[in-house]
Amino acid sequence: MSNASSSAASGAMDPVRAKRGLWSSRLAFILAATGSAVGLGNIWKFPYITGENGGGAFVLVYLLCIAAVGLPIMMAEVLIGRRGGLSPVNSMRAITSHEGLKPAWRWLAVIGVLAGFLILSFYSVIGGWAISYVGTAATGQLTGQTAESIGAIFSGLLSDPLTLLMWHTLFMALVMVVVARGVRSGLERAVSILMPALFVLLLVVVGYAMTTGHFGQAVAFLFQPDFSKLTTSGVLVALGHAFFTLSLGMGVMMAYGSYLPKDISIAKTSITVSVMDTAVALLAGLAIFPIVFANGLEPGAGPGLIFQTLPLAFGQMPMGSLFGTLFFLLLIFAAWTSGISLLEPLVEWLEEQKGMNRKVSTLGAGIVCWLLGIASILSLNLWSDFAPLGMFAMFEGKTIFDLLDFLTANILLPLGGLLVAVFVGWYMSRQALESELSMSPTVFSVWYRVLRYFTPIAVAVVFVYNLV
Ligand code: TRP
Repeated sequence: MSNASSSAASGAMDPVRAKRGLWSSRLAFILAATGSAVGLGNIWKFPYITGENGGGAFVLVYLLCIAAVGLPIMMAEVLIGRRGGLSPVNSMRAITSHEGLKPAWRWLAVIGVLAGFLILSFYSVIGGWAISYVGTAATGQLTGQTAESIGAIFSGLLSDPLTLLMWHTLFMALVMVVVARGVRSGLERAVSILMPALFVLLLVVVGYAMTTGHFGQAVAFLFQPDFSKLTTSGVLVALGHAFFTLSLGMGVMMAYGSYLPKDISIAKTSITVSVMDTAVALLAGLAIFPIVFANGLEPGAGPGLIFQTLPLAFGQMPMGSLFGTLFFLLLIFAAWTSGISLLEPLVEWLEEQKGMNRKVSTLGAGIVCWLLGIASILSLNLWSDFAPLGMFAMFEGKTIFDLLDFLTANILLPLGGLLVAVFVGWYMSRQALESELSMSPTVFSVWYRVLRYFTPIAVAVVFVYNLV
C-alpha cells in the first residue's frame, strides 16, 4: 500500500499491483466488502428513515436506487480500484495518466476521503450506543420493561455526555487499533464467522416478531407503497442511503477492488455484496416494525428507533438477555468493520501522500475524528437547540449531528458517486472497461448505458429538486 506514487506515475499498472498481494480469493473480497457495507446503515439507519418517510413507497424507491444507481456505481468503483491497483487517490492518478486524462480527476477520491472522515465522527457515536446496550442487556435490565421505561433508558443515555463520550472513545479506539495494524490480518476470518451469526440472530428476532400479532401490518407498512407519503426529500434520503449502505461514493470499494484478482467477475461479486446488504436491511425492518406496531410506538421516532424497539423484544422473549447481549455485540462488530473502512482510505492517503507511517497517521486522523465526534455528542444534549446553519431553510432545526449525517449521506456521497459515473462512463476508454469487466456484450451495454445516462441524470435531478 505504500511508496506507490512514484511507480503509479509511470502508468505501468500490473507490476505495481503484483507488489501489493491480492485477496486470497473471491470470497475474501466479498467478505471485506460486505463487512464494510453491512453496518449501522442497515440495522440502525434503514429502519428509522423508513419509518420517518412513511414505509412502502420509500422502500421501493430505495430498492430501485440500489439496483439502478448503487450497483452500477459499485461496479465502476471496483473497476477503478482493480485497474489502478493502488489506494483510491493514486489509482485515480494512475488511470488518468495512463489514459491521458486530466489529473484533477483525483480530487474525486479526495472528496471521498473527507466524506469518510466526517461519517466516522458520528458513526462512532452511534457505535457507542450499541456498546452501551451490550451492558444494559447483559445485566438483565431489559427484562420485563415497558415501552415507556425502555424509552427512558434511551433518553437517559442521550442526556449523559460523559457516558456517551466514554463509549465513543472505546469505539474509535477499536477502529484505530485495527487500522494501525493494517487491515487485512484477521479481519477476513472474523467477518466470515460473525456476519452469518448476525444474520441468524436477526432471523431469531424476526421469528419473535412474527409472534407479536403485528407481523402482517409490518409487512404491509414496508412493502405496500403509498406514494402519497413520499416527499421529494424522501427520494433524496433514499438515494443518499443507497450510497451510504453500499459504502459508495468515497473510494472504499476502489480500495478493496485494488486487491481483487483479474480473473474474478466484478459484476457477480458486486451483485452478491448488494444482495446481502439489502437482505440485512430488509430483515432489520421485518424485525423492528412488528414490535413498533405491537407496542403502539411511533414509526417515525427517529434515530433512537432500534434502541427503543429491539430491547422490548429482548425483554419479552425467552433467553432475551442472552440474545440481546449477543445481538448488540454483533451489531458492534458490524459497525466496527464498517468504521475501519471509513478510516482506512484517509490513513492510506496520509501514508502515501505525506509519507507518514501507518501508526502516526492512524493516531492523528483518529484523534481529529474523535474530537469532531464530541460535537455530535453534545448536539444530543447540551447543544440540542443549536442549529449552526439554521438560517438556511433546508438546514432548519438540524443539529451538528443531523448536519453531518445530511451533508455526507445526502450530498457528498451522491456527488462522489456522480463523479465516478461520469469518469468511468464518459472519460475512461471503453476498451479498458470491457477488458476489466469481461461480461457478455449485451450485459455490458446495459451497464454502460445505465452508468452513462441513467445514473448521472437521476442523481442530478434529485439534487436539483431538493436544492431549489
Ligand atoms: N455502509 C456502512 C453502513 O451501512 C457505512 C459505511 C462504511 C460507509 N464505509 C462507508 C458509508 C463508506 C459510505 C461510504 O453502515
